[in-house]
Amino acid sequence: MKTLEKNEIKVLIDNNQIEQKIKDIADILNNKFKDEEVYVICVLKGAVMFAAELIKNLKMPLKLEFIRLSSYGSGTVSSGKVNAVDISLPDLNNKNVIIVEDIIDTGHTAKFLYDFIHMNFKVKSYNFVSLLDKKIRREVNINPDLFCFQIEDKFVVGYGLDIDGYYRNLDYIGYIE
Ligand code: IMP
Ligand code: MG
Repeated sequence: MKTLEKNEIKVLIDNNQIEQKIKDIADILNNKFKDEEVYVICVLKGAVMFAAELIKNLKMPLKLEFIRLSSYGSGTVSSGKVNAVDISLPDLNNKNVIIVEDIIDTGHTAKFLYDFIHMNFKVKSYNFVSLLDKKIRREVNINPDLFCFQIEDKFVVGYGLDIDGYYRNLDYIGYIE
């Protein structure tokens, strides 16, 4: 697929809006957990920028883990299948787990993660936190516990999200017309 030119990307949510909202989400988590320890699990690659900004605003003792999943084939077509590229995790029994995702779209990835964590561990608490929620596209009945923005059915890039690996570095969320 041909690489899209930058001028074909329109700003949907700018950096100020994103980072203000991330602070609000962090406040909710800070209040919820106070000084309790949490495990923040960043789902690579898309959630990397969101997770980095989120943890800067978290005050409790935390450990950061990374897992790598992929569900999109190429371009903007969801395969509906989730590939666990690397899902090695520490012992999460009796831990507070916060999954950090870039976007919940069909919901297959969120469902896969929920099942994977609960099949392998008896966690103390489980929270799925997503930067974006494309609720209209849901195929599986699952919702994030917290999200920053609900968006319509547009393919978005930036702030970690990509198309064919590109545009993760944009500091805003843009869409392709
Ligand atoms: P789901 O399994 O369909 O919910 O898809 C989740 C994954 O698809 C996300 O973690 C993203 O990596 C990717 N994805 C879904 N929608 C978009 C989008 O609009 N832009 C970029 N990636 C997306
Ligand atoms: Mg992803």
